[in-house]
Amino acid sequence: MSKHVIVAIDGPAGAGKSTLARRLAARLGYLYIDTGAMYRAVALMALRLGISLDEPLKLEQLALASQIELTPDARVLLDGQDVSEAIRQPEISQAASKASAVGGVRRAMVLLQRRMGESHSVVMEGRDIGTVVFPQAQVKVFLDADPAERAGRRVAELRQKGVESDLAEVEREMRERDNRDRTRSEAPLVQAPDAVYFDSTGHTPDQVEEALLRIVRARTSNGKEADR
Ligand code: DC
Repeated sequence: MSKHVIVAIDGPAGAGKSTLARRLAARLGYLYIDTGAMYRAVALMALRLGISLDEPLKLEQLALASQIELTPDARVLLDGQDVSEAIRQPEISQAASKASAVGGVRRAMVLLQRRMGESHSVVMEGRDIGTVVFPQAQVKVFLDADPAERAGRRVAELRQKGVESDLAEVEREMRERDNRDRTRSEAPLVQAPDAVYFDSTGHTPDQVEEALLRIVRARTSNGKEADR
């Protein structure tokens, strides 16, 4: 049996999953996998090719035909081209949420994600990692935060990149996206029954990192028995 450890981090947009998953992976020496980036890459490709997000069959074919790679330094390659910045545009967030509701797109991405977890210990973040992709993951965390704080964090994140945005608009957009992600029929965002719920509202990233590290260690005898 593989001794690779899977740490699954699920939760709504802006809960701090990316920051925390990246930090945890660095602390543990595991691979960091951002599955949202994969759905974003499919959505970007669709928009670039003029494929409607209401055409599930075309989207599925696109997902199967595209080569999506996540590099060890967390860059995202789409058919060999670095799209790490392009997939972070606000219109891609909504488009990714729509594309990810298509069953065929999900099946293609889940296959890739499972393959990534076969050969390494990973910290994988997304919406369905603990429920669908790796229901047998040794560690599952459902990371949440108050909606107003999640929107505030996203505004600050955008400002750091030199993009000014409206808090109310960001909050509205996030609510719409979360609602779609939670209510879709295929792999909706839901807490796995055996996941640890963690509310990061009012906590610094350092505090959340230490808390999550304690959870990982409690479930994996220090995270040390794993093959990396
Ligand atoms: O994590 P993110 O905000 O970059 O994800 C973008 C969209 O992709 C999100 O709105 C829902 C979808 N997604 C998904 O359905 N399943 C995942 N495991 C990860 C993301």
